[in-house]
Amino acid sequence: MPKPKVHFLVCSNQRPPGHPRGSCAEHNAGETANVFGQMLQDSQKFDTVKVSMTSCLGPCSLGPVVVAYPDNAWYGQVDADKAKKIWESHVDEGKPASSLEIPEGSF
Ligand code: FES
Repeated sequence: MPKPKVHFLVCSNQRPPGHPRGSCAEHNAGETANVFGQMLQDSQKFDTVKVSMTSCLGPCSLGPVVVAYPDNAWYGQVDADKAKKIWESHVDEGKPASSLEIPEGSF
């Protein structure tokens, strides 16, 4: 497998109901992960794009959280619509979706 040009990390961590930190899973991270998986499948860009579901990435209250490398671009509250925009920006345009990134200081 060649080294990917873009790697999406999609937090899919789940905590028990009522946990004070919440989790991305309770914010519908499953749908977010499915969108990235479907975009990968549709594009067939398996040799340049990788999608990984991860454990907690840190800013749980902003879930679902997605990080894109190598740009070190962090996104929060990533629903299906945002996921598609993030994919298009990184994969099709080769740049972060800056307007959708979590603002510095909001972590
Ligand atoms: S549970 Fe997703 S960032 Fe913590």
